[in-house]
Amino acid sequence: MDDPYAPARDALAGDGLGGGAADADPAVLAARLDDADPLSGFADRYHVADDVLYMDGNSLGPASDAALASLDRVAEEWRELLISGWTDADPPWFSVGERLGDALAPLVGADPSEVVVGNSITVNIHALVGTFLDELLAGNGPEREGVAAADGTWAPDGNPEADPAVLVNALDFPSDHYAIRAQLRQRGIDPDEKLRVVESRDGRTIDPRDIEAALDAHDDVGVVFMPTALYRSGQLFDVGRITEAAHGAGAYAGFDAAHSAGAVPHAFGAAGVDFAVWCTYKYLNAGPGSIGALFVAERHHGLTPALAGWWGHEKATQFEMNMTYTSADSAGAWQIGTPPLLSAAPLEGSVELLREAGIDRLREKSLALTDLLIALVDERLPDVAVGTPREHRARGGHVALEHPEAERLSKALTDRGVVVDFRPPNVVRVCPAAPYTSFADVLAVVDEIETVLESGIHEEYATGEGGVT
Ligand SMILES: Cc1ncc(COP(=O)(O)O)c(C=O)c1O
Repeated sequence: MDDPYAPARDALAGDGLGGGAADADPAVLAARLDDADPLSGFADRYHVADDVLYMDGNSLGPASDAALASLDRVAEEWRELLISGWTDADPPWFSVGERLGDALAPLVGADPSEVVVGNSITVNIHALVGTFLDELLAGNGPEREGVAAADGTWAPDGNPEADPAVLVNALDFPSDHYAIRAQLRQRGIDPDEKLRVVESRDGRTIDPRDIEAALDAHDDVGVVFMPTALYRSGQLFDVGRITEAAHGAGAYAGFDAAHSAGAVPHAFGAAGVDFAVWCTYKYLNAGPGSIGALFVAERHHGLTPALAGWWGHEKATQFEMNMTYTSADSAGAWQIGTPPLLSAAPLEGSVELLREAGIDRLREKSLALTDLLIALVDERLPDVAVGTPREHRARGGHVALEHPEAERLSKALTDRGVVVDFRPPNVVRVCPAAPYTSFADVLAVVDEIETVLESGIHEEYATGEGGVT
């Protein structure tokens, strides 16, 4: 079959569930989709208990045999090789950041030298926003029509005395704002003035025209820092469009790709993105607290990182222990200290699995899974609103279901083995991640939500106990 997932798309496009009398029963439709799914065999390679419907891979992906095997291998190397593992393990630990960066690069459309793993998202935002703020303060900005990069003439509002601003949005993950505010403050820039925030019109999404309007309205923006996908509603942003608008306005374009890396293919290189950060514990399934990742476009290699450390030093001379810092000529320069080997090891296996499945196929399946989910919610759950954009190009890997009792609903579902999460004020996030979720699982989740809401089981649950990201 040309497109094994077409029936899911058709169901959402208005043909109704099943698209015809033969499988008007959603169970028949789900079974048909599962039978035709070229990725169905991958689920067996992940560890999700049989009685659990795991819909929270956008917070923490599950363990896989491959990730556990690469973790076991590194633990064994530690046991056997001790300190010599840095050079004698196969492959050596010393270059783990670069090596795993190479493995991730195709998933984000980058050259291997442009991606490295290290630190965490928040630390990488500090490191990269700090670096590009320093560039702006030195008068250097992105290359654009009629303006050469690094020519020392970048000035907000044409005034070299004025400070650069960073453009973000009101629906960002809070840690991003905390880090950017801190970086502004550390340069004597008032974040209340210079963290410019694009507001949301509907509380769920950001209209790209509002980003462009903010750039038109303020000549001082030096960095546009946006998510590739919003953590709450799952809206997927148009990275190319935002990058073009940023560059047109003389601003660098940086992205937080936490909610798309490993689920949505990116083309950071072709789009001209300046820098990006993401984690590996969500769709990349490398385990709780696993190592962060970052992209820096090749044209910026050689800049001095704002948070310099010896692990970002030129590799060939790192152990000469010079007091003078020579930056690695790659994204590797933004590593800081010794990489946490045990938090990096599972990534090797987990990325290999995703690469075997193919990021484009994973994305196609993910869209089909969320198509089916949205179609079922539309048909069966009249009190639940879908807060995620319906167009494929604006939809990430999860679906935000809005309900006034979202917190209780989320707790009741989790107790019934349907692992979802709640985001205030009214969102239950449901993430049918492509590598290990079947179409039958999606149907079972909707059945469970319907059962809970119709029976009122959720009303027995308390609210307001907080939670984990
Ligand atoms: C979009 C986004 N940005 C940043 C973070 C913070 O990441 P970290 O704790 O790895 O620094 C998260 C965590 O879930 C996130 O979802």
